[in-house]
This record gives sequence, C-alpha cells and structure tokens, in this order.
Amino acid sequence: PQVDISSDNSSVTATLPSGDSVTVLLFGATVTSWKSAGGKKENLWLSEKAILDGSKPVRGGIPLVFPVFGPPPSDHATSSLPQHGFARNSRWEFLGKSTSESAGKGSAGDDSVTLDFGLGSSNLSDSAKQAWPFNFGLVYSVTLVKDVLTTNMTVRNEGTKPFECQVLFHSYLKVDDIANTTVSGLDSIEYVDKVNGASTQTETNKAVTLTGETDRVYKALKPEAKVVVKENGKPLYEVGRDNLDDVVVWNPWAEKAGGMGDFAPKDGYKQMICIESGAVSGWQKLDGGDSFEGAQIIKSVL
Ligand code: BG6
Repeated sequence: PQVDISSDNSSVTATLPSGDSVTVLLFGATVTSWKSAGGKKENLWLSEKAILDGSKPVRGGIPLVFPVFGPPPSDHATSSLPQHGFARNSRWEFLGKSTSESAGKGSAGDDSVTLDFGLGSSNLSDSAKQAWPFNFGLVYSVTLVKDVLTTNMTVRNEGTKPFECQVLFHSYLKVDDIANTTVSGLDSIEYVDKVNGASTQTETNKAVTLTGETDRVYKALKPEAKVVVKENGKPLYEVGRDNLDDVVVWNPWAEKAGGMGDFAPKDGYKQMICIESGAVSGWQKLDGGDSFEGAQIIKSVL
C-alpha cells in the first residue's frame, strides 16, 4: 500500500495506507480536514458555511496567522494589514510531497507524508505588497503520520531590511460538546484575557473549562509542556510545540458566533475549541538572511 496524493486546482489531499488523511486548500494553505483512526475520526471543526473560494479566510480548519496576530498595532510596520495578516488570505504554491512508507506489515504506523507549500513576496496581491513591503519567503510543511498532524512554518527574510513578525496556527479542534471539554497543561501560566479588557491573569485551574466567550493568550509555556484537551476527563488531543511558546484558547460562544455570517450551524461553537500555538506575545525580529522556524504537533488520542 502506498501514500495516495490527489490534487486539483484548489486543494491537495494525502491519504496514508491506514486511511488517515489530510486536506490542504491552496487558498491560505488552510488545512480543512484531518482524519485519523483510519479515516473514521475528523479532528478539525469546519463551519458548514466556511467560504473556500478565496474571497474570505476559512472559518475552521487551521488558518495561518502571519505576519501579525490579531488587529495590527497602529505604531507597527504591520499596521495596514488585515487582522491576522495576509497568509490566510493568499493563494499558496504547492511545492511537492515527500513520503516514507513502512517496509512490511505490522509497521503501518511508520508511514508518513509531508506536503510542502510556499508563499513569497511575489505571490502577494499588490495591496498586501504595499502594506508590508518586505522581501520574505515562507515554507509551510504539513506532515501526517498515524494519529499525528505536524504543521511547521519557516519564515525567511529574503531581503536586506530587517522585519518583525508573529506566527500562529489557528487550529479549530473538533469536540463532541464544549460543556464536557477541559484543557489542561495551562496551570500557573500567565495569560492575557482579551475578553476581560486585556488584563493579565495567572491560570489557577488544572483543568480549564469554557463557559462563555473565551479569548486568552497564554504566554511563555515551557517547551516540553503539552496542552491536553479532554472530553469527559479522557484525553482527546495532545498539542505540543517546537519553538512556539504561546498558546491561544478561543471560543466565540453563542453571541459572537451568531454575528459571524460564515459560522454555521449557529450552535457549532459547542463542537469546537481553538487551541492555537504560536509566537505572538512579542515579535520575531529577522535580519536579512535570517530564518525563524516553529511547529505545532497535534496528537489525536482515541
Ligand atoms: C483568535 C483571536 O485567535 O482569532 C480572537 O484571539 C479572534 O481575538 C479569533 O476573534 C478569530 O479571528 P477571525 O479574524 O478569524 O474572526
């Protein structure tokens, strides 16, 4: 059995011999589906009204945030960019795949596929180019092995002018019911509570529950600390990071979801939780020729 790759003008899907699969839309290089358990379990929440034609960022899956997280600060070089930057609004190039297949029976867990996507200054719309006039190159690699999805971003300053950027994987994880969902691994971590006037708080809960609109930037996690999403006390996802120290926990809840035209069904906020690994509480400063690399590793636990 071999890794199967199918692609058309708008997306690429890779399927492992086990049946696990991942689909990446070229618009935004947005992962729109990730199935584990041999293809039986969808791990990402995607709005039924998500717009996939490139006219608007995708509501669900894993949109990419670059070079700014949230509304750009007015006193920063990103100030004229849209919220979360242009990566999720741009059409990326599919650079190719690499696969490794296990030799024999019984080792199917070793099968893997990596899909690479690229975005550079030359791919940007004229307005984005003007709004952020730097020469950059992004390589985004999506790696699927049995039950694990790794997303890896390399940012390179291809010019001579230094620039500052932020990077984040805006992952909408699918849950059965947010009422039975907890998040652990955040205890004693400092966070900015964007729902509560951007006040700084320290997490005191071993298991964080969500009971209303939630928008928090947890900062400076230890590199090895995993964020674990549990349902009814049992682990559902383990989210690890490489060189990314911040984790955003977001759920719009009823009222905000109700106000989003592309959010459906309206009570869909009960079936999702965004756990977003990134480097967003400060800026990564890259001199000409410098690179920054960061990754998120999500394990789907059965
Ligand atoms: C989160 C931010 O990462 O993304 C929230 O912390 C924001 O503040 C959310 O509301 C969704 O953003 P958007 O632009 O996709 O609606």
